[in-house]
Amino acid sequence: MAGRFDGKQALVLGVANRRSIAWAIAKRLADEGAQVAFTYQGERIEKSVRDLAATVDSPLVIECDVRSDEDVARVFGEVATTFGGGLDILVHSVAFAAAEDLEGRFTDTPRDRFWLALDVSAYSLVVCAREAEPLMETRGGGSILTMTYLGGERAVPHYNVMGVAKSALDSSVRYLAWDLGFKNIRVNAISAGPVRTLAARSIAGFTTMESMFEERAPLHRQVDAEDCGAAAAYLLSEDAANVTGTTLYVDAGYHAMGM
Ligand SMILES: NC(=O)c1ccc[n+]([C@@H]2O[C@H](COP(=O)([O-])OP(=O)(O)OC[C@H]3O[C@@H](n4cnc5c(N)ncnc54)[C@H](O)[C@@H]3O)[C@@H](O)[C@H]2O)c1
Repeated sequence: MAGRFDGKQALVLGVANRRSIAWAIAKRLADEGAQVAFTYQGERIEKSVRDLAATVDSPLVIECDVRSDEDVARVFGEVATTFGGGLDILVHSVAFAAAEDLEGRFTDTPRDRFWLALDVSAYSLVVCAREAEPLMETRGGGSILTMTYLGGERAVPHYNVMGVAKSALDSSVRYLAWDLGFKNIRVNAISAGPVRTLAARSIAGFTTMESMFEERAPLHRQVDAEDCGAAAAYLLSEDAANVTGTTLYVDAGYHAMGM
């Protein structure tokens, strides 16, 4: 299998720790030959991200808060310097909503926290894609991947404002795919079933979600971050050269069910 990403250069946003879906994707890219740069958000997780990045000989680990256009521009500037002006792969695995908005009623979401969730979880893909565009253009194309969830298409109790943010993210994938397709840049999403990560732990009732999932998904088993890594490697590789604007469900078939 080695070699699918030989000579490819990737930027991965969203590693917090070894359980992060972004880490499973990054590891898979590196195992198959890619050079992988990482961003981290905040000093609190810097060491954990640097330690993980070191295990795959990452050439760049840099702080980025996706709420800041300046931060994002600085990061892509550094990426260009590190990677000789180009970039082949961008992985966006970032989301945030206030914990109090992932329990109780969606109806009660205040305006500022509604926009915060959409800013971090949806708009960030747009600004990152815009910054990646010229770097990917110099390579004759590229591939962008984000992480979404069924709660953006259906109402999932407790997912609340994050579901609205995922709807915006899903739609952004389609509009970005159209804009960037002219430059041979593909944009896709993976819709994952519940995976035990830091972000997942802040969703009220996550354990109940997991057991209902296992009972009702056609394959009757949990999904893990490595499943997402394998699907991501497909979408990010030349194997998916004619796949863009789409969502690949890595959810043991759960999305196909009506009850
Ligand atoms: N875990 C699941 O069950 C599941 C299912 C479907 C989709 N997803 C999606 O997968 C993605 C990754 O989440 P995860 O489950 O691996 O959890 P995680 O907590 O490991 O990753 C979330 C990442 O978002 C980053 N982040 C939050 N706010 C940020 C900001 N302002 N600037 C930059 N980075 C910021 C965090 O630092 C963290 O690295 C998210 O988009 C999430 O919604 C997760």
